[in-house]
Amino acid sequence: MSRRRQIYEGKAKILYEGPEPGTIIQYFKDDATAFNAQKKGTISGKGVLNNRISEHLFTLLGGIGVPTHFIRRLNMREQLVRQVEIVPIEVVVRNVVAGSLAKRFGLEEGTTLPRTILEYYYKDDALGDPLVTDEHISAFGWATQDEMHDIADMAIRVNDFMAGLFAGVGIRLVDFKLEFGRLYDQEFSRIILADEISPDGCRLWDAQTNEKLDKDRFRRDLGNVIESYTEVARRLGIMKEMPTVIQGGIH
Ligand code: TMP
Repeated sequence: MSRRRQIYEGKAKILYEGPEPGTIIQYFKDDATAFNAQKKGTISGKGVLNNRISEHLFTLLGGIGVPTHFIRRLNMREQLVRQVEIVPIEVVVRNVVAGSLAKRFGLEEGTTLPRTILEYYYKDDALGDPLVTDEHISAFGWATQDEMHDIADMAIRVNDFMAGLFAGVGIRLVDFKLEFGRLYDQEFSRIILADEISPDGCRLWDAQTNEKLDKDRFRRDLGNVIESYTEVARRLGIMKEMPTVIQGGIH
């Protein structure tokens, strides 16, 4: 691994140059941050679970025709993906009031929204990822209107599919964050789904008890973080292939 050229290190992942041009290796770390990295921690085994959960979700999404960067999982912590130019927008999809939406409008967490809300945040740590509108995105040239149309379309397709998938295993998909990238083919580019989908960037509540099974357990010091991520993987039916160290929850 040390022979590879590191391209970028983020809060939860490291990107390395892939084996062929146009490919990247995504390495999933156990590091966790919250509140724009003001809170830091390590969740032993998280990277392994997120790698596997994200592989599973991207594979299923690819199967329904959502174009994604995912090529294949390489090992416990790494996956091979297509190299894209990341659109500097975090797309948040909300089905239920929670988190910053609850705070911004003084709403109670847990209220089902009358319709799905899409929000865009400009990816800039120094600015604290501010909420932006389509107008800012097009005026500042972060993405074209055509690209934003494709992004919104795909985000809704991903939401429809994932909400159903999680409902089927007794989990309420409250909200989640997506990132998209431009895949270049000579001078043309098209938008594909990139980054990861895991309990780090989703709110997942047990449908019966509303127990949180996601990164809010870390953000809010609720304990049992890895156990909750493990439970998500178990319900998705992907725990059988996990190493015993994760299965047993021993770290
Ligand atoms: P929020 O309620 O804090 O705005 O978060 C909405 C969703 O987006 C939630 O599922 C967590 C996810 N998210 C990220 O993945 N990264 C982030 O930096 C933030 C702020 C939220």
